[in-house]
Order: sequence, then C-alpha cells, then structure tokens
Amino acid sequence: ELGQQTQLTEVAGILLQTSTVGNWSQIQNFEAKPDDLLICTYPKSGTTWIQEIVDMIEQNGDVEKCQRALIQHRHPFIEWARPPQPSGVEKAKAMPSPRILRTHLPTHLLPPSFWESNCKFLYVARNAKDCMVSYYHFQRMNQKLPDPGTWDDYFETFINGKVAWGSWFDHVRGWWEMKDRYQILFLFYEDIKKDPKHEIQKVMQFMGKNLDETVLDKIVQETSFEKMKENPMTNRSTIPKSILDQSISPFMRKGTVGDWKNHFTVAQNEMFDEIYRKKMEGTSINFCMEL
Ligand code: PPS
Repeated sequence: ELGQQTQLTEVAGILLQTSTVGNWSQIQNFEAKPDDLLICTYPKSGTTWIQEIVDMIEQNGDVEKCQRALIQHRHPFIEWARPPQPSGVEKAKAMPSPRILRTHLPTHLLPPSFWESNCKFLYVARNAKDCMVSYYHFQRMNQKLPDPGTWDDYFETFINGKVAWGSWFDHVRGWWEMKDRYQILFLFYEDIKKDPKHEIQKVMQFMGKNLDETVLDKIVQETSFEKMKENPMTNRSTIPKSILDQSISPFMRKGTVGDWKNHFTVAQNEMFDEIYRKKMEGTSINFCMEL
C-alpha cells in the first residue's frame, strides 16, 4: 500500500511515477519540432523492439552505430525524471534535430506542442492480454514500480487501469482515434512478430528512408528477440539489480504472442473478453484476442 502511494501519483486520472509528476510543468511545456519522430507505446508493448528497429533504419543498418549507447539513452524518454540526473525533456532539448523521442503518455497528457508541431508519431499496440502478462512480470522485477501482488490481484489492478500510465483500453483507444488526424503510423506487435520485414518496410517508408533488400534482411535479423536478448545495449543488463532485478524476471522475458494462455484462468479469460468488448465498443480497432 505505502509503496504504491509513494511511487505513483495521479494526474488527470492517470497514475504516473511520482518523479514524473514532480517535473510535470517542464514536461507539459516541452517544445516539439516538426521534424521530430515520437515513438509512442503503452508500457510492455514492444517499445524497446521498435526503438531498435527505428535506430537500425536511421543508421542504414550499421550495427556498430547502434552500439553507440544503451537503447534507453538513444531516444529521450519525454516524461523521465530522476533528479539530479538530466530529465527526458532536458536530454531531448540537447539533442540535434531530427530527433527521435519516446513516450508512454496517453494522448490527453501528451505535451500539447506535439499536436501543434505536426510531427510524426509511431504507435505500437500489443494485445491487452499479453501486455498484462508482460507488465505483471515487469512489476515483479522493477523495484521502482509497485509490487504487483498475486496474479489474481494484478488482474483487477490492470483492468481497472490502476497501473503506471493508466488503462490499456483508454491508451490504445485514444491513440487509435488520433490516427487519421495526425501523421501516425499505427503498428501491432503481433504483425511485427508475424512478418517483421513487411512491418520494418512500413517504418522505413514512414521515416522517408530507402534501404535495399539486404539491409532490410539484416535489420530483421539484428532486431530478433534472440539477438536483442543477448545484446547488452538492448537487454537492460547494465541497470543495477536494485532497480531492475533480472533474477526475478528478465527484461527480455519471452517475446512471444499468446503467453496469456499460460496465465489466465478460463473464468478470467471470459471476464476479460466481456470487459474488453465493453471498453472497446464503438472503435474500429481489430485485435485478434484468440491469438
Ligand atoms: S518497456 O519497459 O515498456 O519499455 O517495455 P517494452 O520494451 O515496451 O516491452 C517489453 C516486451 O517486449 C518484448 N520484446 C520483444 N519481443 C519480440 N521481439 C523483440 N525483439 C523484443 N524485444 C523486446 C519483451 O520481451 C517484453 O515482452 P515479454 O512478453 O515480457 O517477453
């Protein structure tokens, strides 16, 4: 209980890390630029994966260049704040354009200048059930987030959106609804898994790049789960155990579609499908829940 209160704080109905809320005015006043590309995700939806894909495209498939920094440092995380270290906003400000940035914020909490700038947004959505499973294991190992309790406890917490960055349903709906009004490329984790080359090609076109087949094939190989799990620049292995305890659950945990089947009871699955139907009613988004 106490842990939850001290680590997360609510802003406009959304729980965020307390350190983020402490830096809220700086975040809201962030100045986006027209040539920014913002990577947007609900947590555990494939952020790290799409970051590596985008960076490989940006570096024209040059693996060495992608080794220049840890993945979490390559693309400033807008809402990141842990004083006295420079905040995500400060890191973004110091970065030369064109900038590639990252956020987990829902649309209504995004710094308004992003909408005004007409920059590009790359959203990756992952099916809610696998997202919940991944988030549950992440909260077990991430010492900066509340302990998730039992799986049954977490089931309630997640469907009620009482997790950092709020409800999966509202997040995905919110971004989906913005998709036709702004330059948003909306991708699905499951599609990248199924046909990585095809999805990587879409990202490449969206970024205005033109890479040949051999480079694309190399990007597919280098961004596979197996490669990224072994890669010290992407697997978070340099983060101290006091923050991420990978002996509890590795950051690169399974990287599969459908792991929810190993966690949900039949009753939970039925309940979830019903809640999903209600919460997502009226949106044209089409997730395959059976996966
Ligand atoms: S975070 O903490 O929000 O930034 O996490 P995020 O990177 O969004 O999501 C972590 C999950 O993505 C999986 N992952 C991958 N899957 C497939 N291929 C690749 N290359 C890949 N890289 C990361 C990671 O394993 C987490 O999912 P789970 O289901 O827990 O394994």
